[in-house]
Amino acid sequence: MRIDIITVLPELLESPFNHSIMKRAQEKNLLTVKCHNLRDYSTFNQKQVDDYQYGGGAGMVMMIDPILNCIEALKAERVYDEVIYLTPDGELFEQKMANRLSLYNNLILLCGHYKGIDERVREHLITKEISIGSFVLSGGELAAAVVVDAIGRLLPGVLNNETSALEDSFQDDLLAPPVYTRPANYKGWEVPKILLSGHEAKIKEWRTQKALERTKERRPDLFEKGN
Ligand code: ADE
Repeated sequence: MRIDIITVLPELLESPFNHSIMKRAQEKNLLTVKCHNLRDYSTFNQKQVDDYQYGGGAGMVMMIDPILNCIEALKAERVYDEVIYLTPDGELFEQKMANRLSLYNNLILLCGHYKGIDERVREHLITKEISIGSFVLSGGELAAAVVVDAIGRLLPGVLNNETSALEDSFQDDLLAPPVYTRPANYKGWEVPKILLSGHEAKIKEWRTQKALERTKERRPDLFEKGN
């Protein structure tokens, strides 16, 4: 999969994909992430990408022209499945959307800034709008990093143990059960005996039970949906 990120702050996205699982995914050529500086597509001398909003009001708005130039340049190279705008008023990003997006080949992610982007970009160029939660970030970059990470780890071959993404919280509308590692007794804090029993079927049953209990207690909305 290839993901092109359009941003006015490429520096902000230098680190998130260069470590751990995202780094490995790129090294294995399962994922390609490219950042494009929107200013490179400005036709103004000062590399301007924003302007005052019509009708007055505080805050600048990102202009159509550089965004269109950048998207067109990318589209000339390959076909994109979605052109996504990260925005707090988009569709809420959840595991199911990550699963669906992970099946695509090419995505563009556009990061907003300032007051947002000219509405005509949203009408004519954007095919999907995503919010990562009901809060406002200072720009779409961190949201884009979240989306890329959530999608990237789902790509076949990225995780060492293929089953581990399937067992994540949310994959079956259940939160993950608690996990433990050595020592079995840490100054009196004990690991549940069942996990030390070696009895696979019983352990599986215990984990399912704990996942159900945890979901019911912490996310009753998910519990209602899945059970
Ligand atoms: N940009 C600013 N806030 C955002 C959010 N909550 N989700 C996605 N993009 C954003």
